[in-house]
Amino acid sequence: MPPTSLAVRPIRADDDFKSLSLGHKDYVPLKTFLKRDAWDFERCCVARTHVLVGAEHCVTAGRIWGYITLVASEVVAVANSIPPAQRWSDDYRVPAVKIARMAIDSELHGKGWGNLLLSTALALVKDHVSRNIGCRLIVTDAKQAAVSYYEKQGFSMLDTSENRALKTPIMFMKLDRLVT
Ligand SMILES: CC(C)(COP(=O)(O)OP(=O)(O)OC[C@H]1O[C@@H](n2cnc3c(N)ncnc32)[C@H](O)[C@@H]1OP(=O)(O)O)[C@@H](O)C(=O)NCCC(=O)NCCS
Repeated sequence: MPPTSLAVRPIRADDDFKSLSLGHKDYVPLKTFLKRDAWDFERCCVARTHVLVGAEHCVTAGRIWGYITLVASEVVAVANSIPPAQRWSDDYRVPAVKIARMAIDSELHGKGWGNLLLSTALALVKDHVSRNIGCRLIVTDAKQAAVSYYEKQGFSMLDTSENRALKTPIMFMKLDRLVT
């Protein structure tokens, strides 16, 4: 039975990585990443993962009900697929933070917990990355089933025919929209 009150915090080594249930077989890699790689990547500073746990597990190990994983990234923006910054050439590399993985347990879909994870990630990028390190975008390789979700959250599709044809096209949000 999922808890009614949940909180977001950084992943811990002793969390329960195995119980997350995502339903559809397409999401097996998201479950495998959590079980097999998330803590290893955290330990080696390859990725940072925040997890959704019962509120009583804010400072103790708990069952993971959702997670979001962020990594440093860059996007090659061609042919004005992203409006260029001043004096940048047409074909340029844009520094970014990437949402490498994001999932919510299927028992908890549609209750706003995805939004809580995403808004936590956006706040981290805004407050701790973008103010100190050049970073113009937050990006993700969106599963087709999640494209409309990301659009609803303010992300845009990278506007090239090659990108639109990908199984997981790149979507982005410009950080100047968040940082004032
Ligand atoms: C995509 C996902 C993370 C969304 O999490 P969630 O907790 O169900 O989403 P929320 O309840 O926070 O929904 C926020 C809003 O997005 C909408 N929404 C949720 N899933 C959506 C979808 N697939 N398509 C369009 N809109 C969606 C909700 O209706 C809600 O709209 P509202 O604010 O107008 O009420 C979750 O469905 C999931 O884990 N999916 C499987 C894995 C996946 O696709 N991960 C993304 C990898 S690219």
